[in-house]
Amino acid sequence: MKFAKDFLFGAASASYQVEGAWNEDGKGISNWDVFSKIPGKTFEGTNGDIAIDHYHRYKEDIKLMAEMGLESYRFSISWPRIIPNGVGEVNQKGIEFYNNIINECLSYGIVPFVTLYHWDMPQVLEEKGGWINKETIDAFLNYSEVCYKAFGDRVKHWITFNETVVFCGLGYLAGAHPPAIVGDLNKYFQATHNVFLAHAKSIELYKSLKQYGEIGITHVFSPAFSIDNKEENIIAAKHANEIDTNWYYDPILKGEYPKYVVDIIEQKGIKIDWTDEELQIIKRASDKNDFIGLNYYQPQRVMKNNMDEEVERNRENSTGAPGNPSFDGFYRTVKMNDKKYTKWGWEISPEAFLEGLRMLKGRYGDIKIYITENGLGDEDPIIEDEIVDIPRIKFIETHLKAVKNAIEEGINLKGYYAWSVIDLLSWLNGYKKQYGFIYVDHKNDLARKKKASFYWYKHIIETRGEDI
Ligand code: BG6
Repeated sequence: MKFAKDFLFGAASASYQVEGAWNEDGKGISNWDVFSKIPGKTFEGTNGDIAIDHYHRYKEDIKLMAEMGLESYRFSISWPRIIPNGVGEVNQKGIEFYNNIINECLSYGIVPFVTLYHWDMPQVLEEKGGWINKETIDAFLNYSEVCYKAFGDRVKHWITFNETVVFCGLGYLAGAHPPAIVGDLNKYFQATHNVFLAHAKSIELYKSLKQYGEIGITHVFSPAFSIDNKEENIIAAKHANEIDTNWYYDPILKGEYPKYVVDIIEQKGIKIDWTDEELQIIKRASDKNDFIGLNYYQPQRVMKNNMDEEVERNRENSTGAPGNPSFDGFYRTVKMNDKKYTKWGWEISPEAFLEGLRMLKGRYGDIKIYITENGLGDEDPIIEDEIVDIPRIKFIETHLKAVKNAIEEGINLKGYYAWSVIDLLSWLNGYKKQYGFIYVDHKNDLARKKKASFYWYKHIIETRGEDI
């Protein structure tokens, strides 16, 4: 089977991880500009001040994407570059920059797939309470309107938010992302609700503009599986899916929160400020999603938590990687001897990917799906100056095979975006953890170099994945 002509082969990036130019041309300060400079917060103190300087080198980068045959480029817009203070004045230089990116893509026939919020929030808003403050919802609505109106004549694919579970979980439970709050369940659940509401309002607004593109949200896709057939572990995995998946997908795709989690919230005495009107807006918007974006890296292997002690949660284990009890202490994720893991302890399992897609179809039906991120974080081998990232090729190949199988089973999958198009700044792992098809030489003026995977992906696109 070949992938259909309208299936998009793409690759992705995010503003803070590639752009740099953190204080140029009128850009406002973001929460990440501040957070990354707090000692001890990121790997070896790395930050996105320069990142890989995509801001100045976008032409070279997009040319390389075109050479690779990329059909679509998923990138995000930096909110503080467009509206430096979160609300109020629009920075025309910021509009110009994204116009340039979009037009450059289109000149090569590359479809721009745009994320509005990939975690870099204007610091001014963060200081006023960020996603806890309901005013941030209106500010986001205004920001999204500015973007739809400025770019919507050419951008026909929009993602409102990237991975709510990550920026809320790491921001309000693990303290590993801004605003670096630890263990605050009230704030965590409130923030997620406010984000869902902002999403709902923004897609209603988008539809009212009649730009006839498509819009959705991107979630982490990390389905939980019990480690064995013991009932207590099966219950633990169900619990994990309710908390980590259904809580995020239900309000978007069904327009309501899962009762299972709502009951837990009530039992724990957590009070979410949500009005009937807000819940109705979420309900009303749920059938306006054109697609759901899935970022799949790994599943969760789950068992009942028999440990009494909480262990430290960080980026590596709070996304479900092994060794960590859930925030409510109910279950924990474990490493299994018969599974394969990356150097950063993330399980490699295309099988769980396919199984998870089946679960998703079972719960939400035929919603259109894009895989908006999938890839291998590695330290790439360099042999005689060539970057021979064979493990990445294997990783993407086996996951594309799962995508193919899913399509053959009738799952409505319309595109695949590898993470990432080019080596970039990993939020907490600096430049050590590489994901790209294009290498960036930090010892040589950020020079770009094609990896083995670059040529391989080009071939896959040219042949529409026939050999997979
Ligand atoms: C996803 C994010 O969570 O995972 C990306 O959307 C991120 O922005 C990617 O870079 C990989 O994460 P990490 O921590 O390995 O860089």
